[in-house]
Amino acid sequence: MTPEEASALLDAAAAEASAALTNAATMADLDEVAREFIGKKSRATAVNEAIKAMPPDARPVVGQALSAYRATVGEQINARRAELQAAERAQRLEAERLDLTLGTHGYRRGHLHLITQVRRELEDIFVGLGYQVAEGPEVEDDWHNFEALNIPAAHPARSMQDTLFVDLGEPEQVLLRTHTSPMQVRIMESGPPPVYVVSPGKVFRNETSDARHSPVFHQLEGFAVDQGITMADLFGTIEAFAKRLFDDESVTTRFRSDFFPYTEPSAELAVSCVFCQQAGCRVCSHTGWIELGGCGMIDPNVFKAVGYDPEQWQGFAFGFGLERIAMIRHAIDEIRHFFESDIRFLEQF
Ligand code: FA5
Repeated sequence: MTPEEASALLDAAAAEASAALTNAATMADLDEVAREFIGKKSRATAVNEAIKAMPPDARPVVGQALSAYRATVGEQINARRAELQAAERAQRLEAERLDLTLGTHGYRRGHLHLITQVRRELEDIFVGLGYQVAEGPEVEDDWHNFEALNIPAAHPARSMQDTLFVDLGEPEQVLLRTHTSPMQVRIMESGPPPVYVVSPGKVFRNETSDARHSPVFHQLEGFAVDQGITMADLFGTIEAFAKRLFDDESVTTRFRSDFFPYTEPSAELAVSCVFCQQAGCRVCSHTGWIELGGCGMIDPNVFKAVGYDPEQWQGFAFGFGLERIAMIRHAIDEIRHFFESDIRFLEQF
């Protein structure tokens, strides 16, 4: 082998080694490249052998070329090895990675019960009209539930047939409140007028349940006491409330004469049916109107019972059934759905 041939052979081997390294994908491939290009049986070894037979002045030149070749190919192999090791490590880490993320598999958030949603919505509407929200006890006494509300001793509501009494203290003096109206008494007893309050909560009646009636249900009481309050204020307030509740400016309210011992005059409150625009449908029982609750001007006897001067102060009060409102809003025809905790029903709202 001439020095020129040796030099050409090293150049060609360096180019081939470089290409082989680019294609080497594993450590085994790398070992193979090392063996082929700088190993004992490589062309580098052949050149090294051939040097001995070359003219003395050519030997250092070829020797240097051989060292440079070994150094370059060796460095390239090391660089490629580092690259492959990094890739292998990244691959292993990825394969070993544990997914510690919580709650990704079919996790669903719960939400408020429909009655709670309706209650909060009503509270918001009345807070917007300047009312305060107050909650009261579910276990009441005879005074707040009946006596102070001008409900006479012989009134049927005070009988065992309608009221659930609690076996505590004097007979028939402690009871589960039959409506939210005792909160009128409690609030008025607790401070002087003016008062603008709504009071939502659970009420209880000794009743058999049917599609529209339940022995436990919810009401929202509202009342305002101030100077110069008239029935027009009551009508205007209810009308503003109904328009907001149904988000419909065309909703109208109807007041029909009724009787409650604690309001005079008293009225039954109904709203025009939002489902059929009063053409008549199943929800309004083809009457065009849906009953929401009772209302009226607070009776002077109630003012006397709580120590307000009926000559100086006037007020109105109203009480709505929350289940009734939810049923109207969502065309639900069975009140028992609210209490059965059937997830298929509850998750629709
Ligand atoms: C009252 O309870 C009066 N306290 C309302 C009131 C307040 C009048 C202030 C005047 C001034 P009534 O018994 O009609 O009224 O009940 C009011 C509403 O509660 C009804 O219109 C209805 O929406 C709902 N309601 C009554 N009984 C039941 C029941 N068993 N199940 C579900 N909702 C009922």
